[in-house]
Amino acid sequence: MGSSLPKVLITEPIPDKSIEFLSDRYTVEIGEKGRFQNEDALIEAIPEYHALLCMLSNPITKNVLQAGTNLKVVANFAVGYNNIDVEAATELGIKVANTPDVLTEACGDFAMGLLMAVSRKFNDAEQYLREGHFKGWEPLGFLGLELRGKTLGIIGMGRIGQAFAHRAKAFGMNIAYHNRSPLSQKEEQPLQASYIKDLDQLISTSDVVSVNCPLTPETHHLINERRLGLMQEHALLINISRGPVVDEKALAHALHNKHIAGAGLDVFEEEPKVYPHLLTAPNCTMLPHIASATFETRDAIGMLAVQAIHKILNGDDPKSITNLVN
Ligand code: GLV
Repeated sequence: MGSSLPKVLITEPIPDKSIEFLSDRYTVEIGEKGRFQNEDALIEAIPEYHALLCMLSNPITKNVLQAGTNLKVVANFAVGYNNIDVEAATELGIKVANTPDVLTEACGDFAMGLLMAVSRKFNDAEQYLREGHFKGWEPLGFLGLELRGKTLGIIGMGRIGQAFAHRAKAFGMNIAYHNRSPLSQKEEQPLQASYIKDLDQLISTSDVVSVNCPLTPETHHLINERRLGLMQEHALLINISRGPVVDEKALAHALHNKHIAGAGLDVFEEEPKVYPHLLTAPNCTMLPHIASATFETRDAIGMLAVQAIHKILNGDDPKSITNLVN
């Protein structure tokens, strides 16, 4: 049966609820896992589609967008959209949507969990147990950093940075942050957070440094060898934003040489690759980019993305779609 319904490409399987929403209204194709992680595959497929629901692992370059001669909207299944050339999309009249807010709490929980794992050395201790080294309770085994009274320095105090700060505050931490601009008094006051204008000062005075900013040309390798050198020896680094904000090679070196005491990473410079020297670094907890991975949140991400697609294809006023980025 021929169909004149608009066509939507979803690059990877996503939660059923959002697929059903689109399938009830459009002709939907779903890519196999990993198929669209390169530009060529996207360029080949995209001409026939009116909408694209893509993952952060899909490079939505200018070439892909130019090949999308029927494309009206690209919805990223993520809040971060550094994988999409938004400037090119704007020039071509293609709308771009992301998924803010719905994943904030899941990411705040996750950042706190990752910090707990690193500060108390869960990963190395679990490995020790699994390898059969646990021979009895040890008074000096796996001593970690107690969080109460320590300073969490957050780089990028947006929604997720603030969600992490609220949790850390409940654990008795002091909150300091660096951001393009200070929070409003209403936001800052419950956290009793201190705005530190000088990034190097924030890094050198924090017990935990957390990267929560988007990846932009300005934030690429923001945490480099020099800044890792500013961190205190007992300090920990948390990154749940984007891998390239941290120079992985410099981080591996800092961990191996005990210039810092640990790191918790959910993101990597060249996902899915991990810099090999990091894999053997002490007290480095690494997870496969799962900060927003709860059933509830992934459902909500999917619904936000499909609704943006539907509204654009339906001709709604773009001003009424709050999660458009252009
Ligand atoms: C995940 O990394 C996201 O940006 O949503």
